[in-house]
Amino acid sequence: MKIRNAAGPAVITAIALQLMAPGGLPGQTPGSVPFIQIDAGKPGARVSPMLFGLMTEEINFSYDGGLYGELVRNRSFKEDAKEPVHWQLVQEGGGAASMALDPSQPLNDAIGTSLKLTVTQAGGAQRAGIANEGFWGIPLQPNTKYRASFYAKASPDFRGPLTVSLVANEGGAVYASARVAAVTGAWKKYELALNSAAGTPVSAKNHLLISCAGKGTIWFSAVSLFPPTFNNRPNGNRKDIMQILADMKPAFLRFPGGNYLEGNTIETRFDWKKTLGPISERPGHMDDAWRYWSSDGMGLLEFLEWCEDLRMQPVMGVYAGYSLRQVRVKAGPDLAPYVQDALDEIEYVSGDKTTTWGARRAKDGHPEPFHLECVEVGNEDQFDREQGSYEGRFAQFFDAIKAKYPKIKVISSTAAGTRVPDIVDEHYYRRSEDEMASHAHDYDKRPRTGPKVFVGEYATRVGSPTGNMSAALGDAAWLAGLERNSDLVVMSSYAPLFVNVNPGGMQWATDLIGFDALHSYGSPPYYAQKMFTNYIGDVVLPIEEQGVPTRTWQPPAGGRRGAPDAPAPPPPPAQQVPTLFSSATRDTKTGAIYLKVVNRAGAPQPVRIEIRGVTAVEPKGKVVTMSASAPDDTNSITAPTKIVPVSSEAEGFASSFTRTFAPYSISVVRLSAK
Ligand code: AHR
Repeated sequence: MKIRNAAGPAVITAIALQLMAPGGLPGQTPGSVPFIQIDAGKPGARVSPMLFGLMTEEINFSYDGGLYGELVRNRSFKEDAKEPVHWQLVQEGGGAASMALDPSQPLNDAIGTSLKLTVTQAGGAQRAGIANEGFWGIPLQPNTKYRASFYAKASPDFRGPLTVSLVANEGGAVYASARVAAVTGAWKKYELALNSAAGTPVSAKNHLLISCAGKGTIWFSAVSLFPPTFNNRPNGNRKDIMQILADMKPAFLRFPGGNYLEGNTIETRFDWKKTLGPISERPGHMDDAWRYWSSDGMGLLEFLEWCEDLRMQPVMGVYAGYSLRQVRVKAGPDLAPYVQDALDEIEYVSGDKTTTWGARRAKDGHPEPFHLECVEVGNEDQFDREQGSYEGRFAQFFDAIKAKYPKIKVISSTAAGTRVPDIVDEHYYRRSEDEMASHAHDYDKRPRTGPKVFVGEYATRVGSPTGNMSAALGDAAWLAGLERNSDLVVMSSYAPLFVNVNPGGMQWATDLIGFDALHSYGSPPYYAQKMFTNYIGDVVLPIEEQGVPTRTWQPPAGGRRGAPDAPAPPPPPAQQVPTLFSSATRDTKTGAIYLKVVNRAGAPQPVRIEIRGVTAVEPKGKVVTMSASAPDDTNSITAPTKIVPVSSEAEGFASSFTRTFAPYSISVVRLSAK
């Protein structure tokens, strides 16, 4: 019995579920070795160049306290309307002062409050000032230049100076310090370089201190501190996390969400026009979808520059008139301003300098337009419970976008009604490893008659805060399915991408990349994905599997109970789910064949492999394997590389060979073939 994928519409997927009866396959000796046959003579579809990308939103402190380099938390004092949270008053050595929010002295219309520091005793050993605790600390390294900036104004009696320092929480050691000699009576921006001393310990147990040497009143706003950033971008991103992403070679970035795009209400959506310009002009907003304040330092231009830095295509989600609390804008005239907003947004991204919004982008510091091919209308609009709502809204967006930008591919966030989207976004979550694996052949069977598919969010949900090896095995089985069906599934991205592992940092249980203020690491699912993106050809090769072993999976009971005293519905029938998955691609330039094999079983798995349609296979090849001794093995802040792929040169390859795959493993076999 065969499992076959012809890398195109003609897909045969006789999954070995019922075929693999206890005692062996029909027509196959019990205990015999599974067989994988690759036909290199009949290359199938082109591997979609956009197959693997990233999906991102402000969740789990992904940006503020994460990728976005800002080290000051609550920099514009808007996180709480009553208290300057994350700021402390400093009174030492007899210094005396008070601090409070002061909405009567706003910096501007965007930042309608400030922090008022009233110093009544200071000078000499008497110290008074304010301190910011950062996002779970302020991470410092030795010999590093930090850039501090803030707006301030002072009462006439304040003589200065202000001292800005980076200080250890325990013991008060000062690692870097700089002074502002005087502060004027009108709002003014002050910028300082803080160079950390050679002996600065690598630690996050530090704070930012702004202290005064004399009495008076000083107001502060937009207080910011940046470490060196990736590519030295002003207002840029953390270097270590960007490098982890770069190593994945992602083709695109889907932004800005996710639920974060929609917000719970229209007011709390990602309102892109309010995320532009200097940080001192960004109001920020409550990310009520994930329940914390967003500075909007990661604004539209920063998303685009992030794409530029990693050579990714932007895949931009536009707000489509629906927010999570069943708030919607009626299609028709009510929706027109939102459609116009989306058109403006597309113009900001891709219009030249002569256009209104292209000119604004140039003013913001990026004269060159960005290349924009794909726009998604909304997010998960299947949750809009009003009949026909998305169909109407989608049609209005679709028509307007296509009229002005006919080349843009319009992605629908769910089934879209009368207008046929170029691509439809499908999300798959809350699946165990077995459940994910049980769906790994779904696309083999999908008719090729509808729109292309973007698997815009997926994750095997095992392990927390980041996925473990079991999750990686489920994901890899799934990814092999996406790769085999790359003619249909043209894009995919895991979600959520990031998690701040500090207490209170996580809103979503299983994530791809973990970090705290100082460290970051990739989970086993991260490395699984990296194996797919780093070892891939440009055409899909037909692959046929026989004798695939399976294991029994009991799907969890689901469904509604009906009346409160009604009996629980019976559990669904148990299924046999394969433990072996594979896919193959070929690099048409070099001839290299990349065979991916996932062995979910806890025992070594010999597999006989045959390559048809080649004249010769080099005996020497390369094997990259990631394996674990148990499915719940994982990576973490303290053991960031416990589970990683290992490369080795291997021999004994031919057009037919047998290879044993390690227990709980994901492997890529790179074969040189003519
Ligand atoms: O990835 C977390 C959330 O899951 C996304 O915001 C949403 O699109 C999905 O429901």
